[in-house]
Amino acid sequence: MSTPHITAEVGSIAPTVLLPGDPLRAQHIAKEFLSECVEVSTRRNMLAYTGRYRGEHITIMGSGMGIPSCAIYVTELARVYRVKRIVRIGTCGGIGDVEIGDLLMAQSAATDSNFNRLHFGGHDLSACADFELMRDVSAQAERASIALRVAHVFSTDCFYDGDADILGLLARHHISGIEMESAGLYGVAMRESIQALSVLTVTDHLERDEHMAPDQRERGLMQMAELVLDSLLIRKIDAQESGSTKA
Ligand code: HPA
Repeated sequence: MSTPHITAEVGSIAPTVLLPGDPLRAQHIAKEFLSECVEVSTRRNMLAYTGRYRGEHITIMGSGMGIPSCAIYVTELARVYRVKRIVRIGTCGGIGDVEIGDLLMAQSAATDSNFNRLHFGGHDLSACADFELMRDVSAQAERASIALRVAHVFSTDCFYDGDADILGLLARHHISGIEMESAGLYGVAMRESIQALSVLTVTDHLERDEHMAPDQRERGLMQMAELVLDSLLIRKIDAQESGSTKA
């Protein structure tokens, strides 16, 4: 069985999914990090790969751009494929005192999208990340000496020509990154009772005219993917290590 948007057979997607926006990035990360890597979905070229990372079953799949696209995949992954953990790895524009190349872990995601309100009786949903995932990514970043900032982000529906005053408002509320998916990911995850988190590299500064060079983007993406993959295993590795100490 497949879904309207995912061709994978049920059972061929792992309980843990890494979700970059760009399907070709999903392919690149999967080929770099996964052993026994199999392409499991190709519909609309939203490529998905399942394999093993240090023995752990992982799927890496593109989400597309924007909340509606991301939410379709996340909903089907949760409902049909019984996925339990989804970590978005993406990019964002920076606001305030962040620098190009900074790594943000999105604790919360405000939004100008109506998507969560449509599911929440018109009220404002506090779209939040999963605490356990945040703790594990944070612990692994510390272990690997990778600087990681816990941040609030803003998920916009308008890449172009959005609210002209938005940057001032975001800065006023100490929101450090702007992207297009996390609020939808968190909203669906809360409803579907799965764990979700977004980890984002700052690729552009929206108040200064600064942009990340393509080779730095590539390095940042791979470092972010490795950090998240290692953090997903952190409790398993700790358990193995404390078991081997005891033995
Ligand atoms: N705006 C919206 N989404 C983004 C941006 C941005 O500046 N940068 C990366 N994703």
